[in-house]
Amino acid sequence: MEIRAALPEDIPAVSEIYNHYVRSSTCTFATEPEGPAYWEKWLSDHCEPYPAIVAIDAGRVTGWATLSRWNNRCAYRFSVEDSVYVLQECHGRGIGRALLKTLTEYARRFGHRNVIAQIADHQAASEKLHASQGFRQVGCLDRIGYKFDRWIDVAIWQLRIEDIP
Ligand SMILES: CC(C)(COP(=O)(O)OP(=O)(O)OC[C@H]1O[C@@H](n2cnc3c(N)ncnc32)[C@H](O)[C@@H]1OP(=O)(O)O)[C@@H](O)C(=O)NCCC(=O)NCCS
Repeated sequence: MEIRAALPEDIPAVSEIYNHYVRSSTCTFATEPEGPAYWEKWLSDHCEPYPAIVAIDAGRVTGWATLSRWNNRCAYRFSVEDSVYVLQECHGRGIGRALLKTLTEYARRFGHRNVIAQIADHQAASEKLHASQGFRQVGCLDRIGYKFDRWIDVAIWQLRIEDIP
């Protein structure tokens, strides 16, 4: 498996992976699939120090991940949020872990101090993935989202870069 920066030609696969979860899962609170204009902006917004990366297996994009600003207020400038999405049929092969590990390495290199994850609906795979990289749950917003006709919690997980051994 190769992990590299996302390129314009990856956008169809990246958007297909994400839009699948928009339609089928509470892991994202988006409810409508995003179109080409959204993804062009997504790519242009994700340049250093807010990278977008992809996992490639046998020439195919099997997952993607980003660091984004956690909040646009200036005092939050040392904190970023991660996003990780892996093709459903490729779950459980270590792709998510490889992507998140690469993101935390970038976070350190670019001088970010905190990486935050918002994990909706107590999703075990996402919780395990983040725990494996040293994140810890620091809070939970109870019943903050509404999708598929039910209320959903969002747990906040934090990795302090200085705590990585
Ligand atoms: C969360 C996600 C990125 C994990 O990717 P993945 O490539 O399947 O994960 P990995 O194979 O690297 O495994 C990471 C950990 O999750 C665990 N895991 C993977 N799938 C799991 C599942 N369905 N249930 C429970 N644990 C699971 C693995 O055992 C591993 O834990 P370990 O280190 O303790 O062994 C993937 O499930 C996904 O894309 N989910 C939908 C999008 C999403 O929820 N993104 C996160 C938003 S915060």
